[in-house]
Amino acid sequence: MPKPDGAAPQHLSNRTAMIPRRTFLAGAAGLTAGALAPFTAARAGTSRFTTNGDHFLLDGQPLQILAGELHYPRIARADWRDRLRKLKSLGLNTLSAYVFWNAHEKAPGRYDFTGNLDLSAWLALAQEEGLHVLLRVGPYACAEWDGGALPAWVFADESVKARSLDPTYMQLSGRWLKRLGQEVAHLEIDKGGPVLMTQVENEYGSFGQDRAYMEAVRDQIRSAGFDGALYTVDGASVIEKGALPSLINGVNFGTTDKAEEEFKRYAAFKPSGPRICTELWGGWFDHFGEVHSAMPAPPLLDSLTWMLDRQISVSFYMAHGGTSFGFDAGANFDRKTETYQPDISSYDYDALLDEAGRPTPKFSAVLEVMRRYLPAERFAPLPAPQKALEIPRFRLTETAAVTPLFGRPVAAPAPRTLESLGQSHGLMRYRHRFAKAAEGTLRIGEVRDYAVVSVNGRRVGVLDRRLNEREIALSVQAGDSLEILVDTMGHVNYGERIGRDQKGLIGGVTLEDQSLQGWTHEGLPLDDLGGLAFRVGTVSDGPAFHRGTFELKGAGYTFLDMRGWGKGYAWVNGHNLGRHWSVGPQRTLFVPESFLKVGVNEVVVFDLHPVLDTSLAGVHTQIWDLPGQVKE
Ligand code: GLA
Repeated sequence: MPKPDGAAPQHLSNRTAMIPRRTFLAGAAGLTAGALAPFTAARAGTSRFTTNGDHFLLDGQPLQILAGELHYPRIARADWRDRLRKLKSLGLNTLSAYVFWNAHEKAPGRYDFTGNLDLSAWLALAQEEGLHVLLRVGPYACAEWDGGALPAWVFADESVKARSLDPTYMQLSGRWLKRLGQEVAHLEIDKGGPVLMTQVENEYGSFGQDRAYMEAVRDQIRSAGFDGALYTVDGASVIEKGALPSLINGVNFGTTDKAEEEFKRYAAFKPSGPRICTELWGGWFDHFGEVHSAMPAPPLLDSLTWMLDRQISVSFYMAHGGTSFGFDAGANFDRKTETYQPDISSYDYDALLDEAGRPTPKFSAVLEVMRRYLPAERFAPLPAPQKALEIPRFRLTETAAVTPLFGRPVAAPAPRTLESLGQSHGLMRYRHRFAKAAEGTLRIGEVRDYAVVSVNGRRVGVLDRRLNEREIALSVQAGDSLEILVDTMGHVNYGERIGRDQKGLIGGVTLEDQSLQGWTHEGLPLDDLGGLAFRVGTVSDGPAFHRGTFELKGAGYTFLDMRGWGKGYAWVNGHNLGRHWSVGPQRTLFVPESFLKVGVNEVVVFDLHPVLDTSLAGVHTQIWDLPGQVKE
């Protein structure tokens, strides 16, 4: 899939570069037996989902699955129905839905299925709106989601191997899937729910080829109570590595791939079996410091038309991307250049609906194609649009020091990772007191992911992992205090670094090749801003919180214009909107209507850098840097 600058998106080129092609020959019986069998006996008031040759069947009738991918935590709950209904407006009949393990189990054994994480309510709403569901339980998801949805705490012990038969990994995965089963397994279609089929793992063929592992995940999903149809998804060129042929197997591809070629490869793997493009990428995601992705519609329409002509099932990835609020964005790691590439908080994806859920020209183009294939009654009217609010520029007049939010200090001879200290996101302050005077280069094994370095409270410089920065010149006296404030970004969600991206200072710190021993750690997870003491006035050159208010007379959504700010996080009425960073390309943070209220609204911005103009405005649409404006 070409990026605007003509280069293939890294995610894709990594994927294809990694896997040598090999031909897979399988006995036809092995391929079709599982797929053809009815999955469970239907009960009264329920439906039976089966397959026959190339087709899916619902109660014996051919079913072409036409799905759109939406991610419930990336859409404010109050907007769930609006976005689901918009799938119906496109003529779609199915929701494709990942489940995000680390969102639900933020700490070991403590589960959250409330509010925006009320998964069963999300699926019930889809059903209410007349949609079937493809349920992608993973537990690995990818999705440009922090760690691919694998909790960071799973890897507090760095020897635990992600997506493998590692006993700790499998035990935690099994425990989670069991809990998930209690929540949603009753929503399978043969039990009266909307779920047609449940996905095992995700694009495993791009990562490994341990069939026993895939079978073990399948068994965990089965024993968690998912009795119905199961499926896998993979890139067609690596399908033989990841797919379990006895299940239904989907293929994913983008708009530079030709659907015809992809299904040819699929046919070489599985001559018979229902065909489904489980992710048709009509857009792409963005890394900080790169130009915003924009994908033209025509290639998408070509692939779509080719598939619709053949009654092949398809899922649009993403129908609507939404926002990776808070700490939810993931990251890539480019193997060739050894470069860390954190994802921005907008998951706009240049999708059919934009970040605010508004139909784009691509939506209209797809709708036109769909209308040629489906009867008029398949298209629900578009819901009434919400109002986009412009908020006149206002100043954040109060500031608060960071200090009260730091956690209890933990001492250790060498710097420890956040995960080993029980923290999965946010910041960590590392401190060291010099025993003697020294001058030279301070070297850090690795900074994950961005550090502000100070001596005796005076800023010496910053280190950015994207740029592989690990060194800084220093001149200190005995008794001086070194402070390294580390900000983290997403855990790598794709490729071999999954589960190997513990945050903080990695591999020790030296000054003129002398190892610095004796460190204090203070965590700043930013989950609770309750302890902050704001006062009117501007502060320091240090990291600080800034607070201001604005008044609204009516309901609507807006985008906060963050131009002029450095690097940090912003909250509106307590909702963490995500990360802002002057390297671009994202200049605005989306604020859904339900985060706002009529009357006085509060904004808090945390910034690592001095900010000259602490003002903000609300604008009605996104602002992206243009090529040349993005700071590498
Ligand atoms: C793959 C993954 C998705 C997502 C896309 C790229 O297809 O399965 O989760 O990461 O790539 O957006």
